[in-house]
Amino acid sequence: MSKLNCENITKIYGDKYDQVNTKALNGISFQVEEGEFIAIMGPSGSGKTTLLNLLSGIDKASSGKITINNKNISEMSKNELALFRREELGFVFQDYNLLDNLTLSENIIVPLVLEKKTPEEIDSRLIRVMELFGIYELSRKYPYNISGGEQQRIAIARAVINEPSIIFADEPTGNLDSKNSKNIMKCFSKMNEELNSTILMVTHDPIAASYAKKIIFIKDGKLHSEIINKGNRREFLNSIFNCLVVLGGEGYDF
Ligand SMILES: Nc1ncnc2c1ncn2[C@@H]1O[C@H](COP(=O)(O)OP(=O)(O)O)[C@@H](O)[C@H]1O
Ligand SMILES: [Mg+2]
Repeated sequence: MSKLNCENITKIYGDKYDQVNTKALNGISFQVEEGEFIAIMGPSGSGKTTLLNLLSGIDKASSGKITINNKNISEMSKNELALFRREELGFVFQDYNLLDNLTLSENIIVPLVLEKKTPEEIDSRLIRVMELFGIYELSRKYPYNISGGEQQRIAIARAVINEPSIIFADEPTGNLDSKNSKNIMKCFSKMNEELNSTILMVTHDPIAASYAKKIIFIKDGKLHSEIINKGNRREFLNSIFNCLVVLGGEGYDF
């Protein structure tokens, strides 16, 4: 059984009067297996964010079927979906979304507090993720006291702390310089390799994508091609550049 399965999904954005319609996704199907780390790439406006939003239940598909752990998310009520997302999915966004009036360790444990875990369980999981991501020394600080790269590491720790079935990330390095981006991507690799997290990440950054094990390219709302990382990140990066040249489009002029 795949972790996630999407079949022939489409998304049409329309205005109230259906005067202007945009077909953002046009018949996309693929599977995500347990432990995969997939990057989704494509030119600006190709539908990457739309795809991630549909797969993670942030927005509804116009047609098609999406199942996660064999549960059809398109058929869930609003409340069921909200609970499912809280319990089963993890999210990392471009702009961190930390709560300013909580310390960093309080930010990380929010998902566990919502699930009413015991203080012992919360403590042991917190220590584990803080060690894994090297953020121990940050725990008593507040979001406004630390850098963007550090904030994103906290956001990643928060996304993974309740051991979600899938972690969705939309341009997680979008606001970071190259050094911080690399640190963040190393955190994603650790999460994938040491916690066996399943990750689906949208990025337009070839270097960030080169940390994934597989890349799916989309163009004009359709799947275009995919490539697999055979273990050598330099070689993989070269293949990514080649694919982006073939893909063409705005934002990829090499
Ligand atoms: N909320 C929206 N309403 C109308 N059109 C949208 C909306 N969100 C995205 N679009 C359109 O859908 C297409 C795909 O957008 P998006 O998924 O954001 O692309 P990407 O993330 O690859 O840049 C674009 O043409 C965009 O203008
Ligand atoms: Mg986007």
